[in-house]
Amino acid sequence: MTFWRSKRASTQDKAVAFDLEAASYARFENVGLEISGRTILQDLSLQLNQQRIGLVGLNGSGKSSFVRLLNGLRQPTSGRLEIFGADAVAARKDLPRHVGFVFQNPDHQAIFPTVEEDVAFGLRQLGEDDRLALEQARDFLSLHGASHLAQRPIAELSEGQKQLVCILAVLIMQPSLIILDEPYSSLDALAARRLHAKLESLPQKIVMISHDPSQLEDFDRVVWIEAGGLRADGAPGEILKAYDDDIRAKAAAAGVDDWDRGHL
Ligand SMILES: Nc1ncnc2c1ncn2[C@@H]1O[C@H](COP(=O)(O)OP(=O)(O)OP(=O)(O)O)[C@@H](O)[C@H]1O
Ligand SMILES: [Mg+2]
Repeated sequence: MTFWRSKRASTQDKAVAFDLEAASYARFENVGLEISGRTILQDLSLQLNQQRIGLVGLNGSGKSSFVRLLNGLRQPTSGRLEIFGADAVAARKDLPRHVGFVFQNPDHQAIFPTVEEDVAFGLRQLGEDDRLALEQARDFLSLHGASHLAQRPIAELSEGQKQLVCILAVLIMQPSLIILDEPYSSLDALAARRLHAKLESLPQKIVMISHDPSQLEDFDRVVWIEAGGLRADGAPGEILKAYDDDIRAKAAAAGVDDWDRGHL
């Protein structure tokens, strides 16, 4: 499905020069993020250059904030960030064309009344005509076994169905980089297997947050975020084990079986 690519390439890439073939699709140099005077991320220096990168970390550690920087939903408040070779602040309006973002909470992503309209929206954003965008959205839903959902109101879908629709709404745009913020959180085991296989088959680069280590085992790299900083970064086998060991140690130290002794 390359129907809109020529239009996108001819009209949209002029404003900011992206290098979509750049070896490092993201370069963080001492990047920090403050929101309302609170430090959310600090002193991050790393480059993202693998096909499949997983992000792990405890609740509130800064994972969603980190990936928001990648598609311009947030801008660094210190340091420098380049995405596909372009400055992330200067390029923030153009980033969503190349960096697709599947939200942690589908209710934050879906904005149109019906599934097909929502899936068509991305194509319209890329310059496709309304009627053609809707036709292509229906075909795409059908291709992915979701034609029965096409005309249903998103608000009435189950959480897992919403999550799948939001993933399809991003995939149809064929972005160069796909961000997935806990895409498996509401999926049943069958849907999770299908999504895993689908993601494996995609040619695009993927950065995915997951609390399920089994979904990241076959990735190229795992980055562990802790308290807004980089705790560890490397091969999945090594990082996932270290992360699991750390959780076990924290659980033992905090007495997690006693809810009142833990903290949120
Ligand atoms: N809009 C905001 N305003 C103020 N603080 C925020 C905002 N968004 C996030 N934060 C804070 O930033 C920190 C990191 O949040 P973030 O959502 O990035 O964590 P996370 O690692 O994705 O957590 P989870 O696993 O629960 O999704 C938290 O302390 C959170 O309270
Ligand atoms: Mg999050």
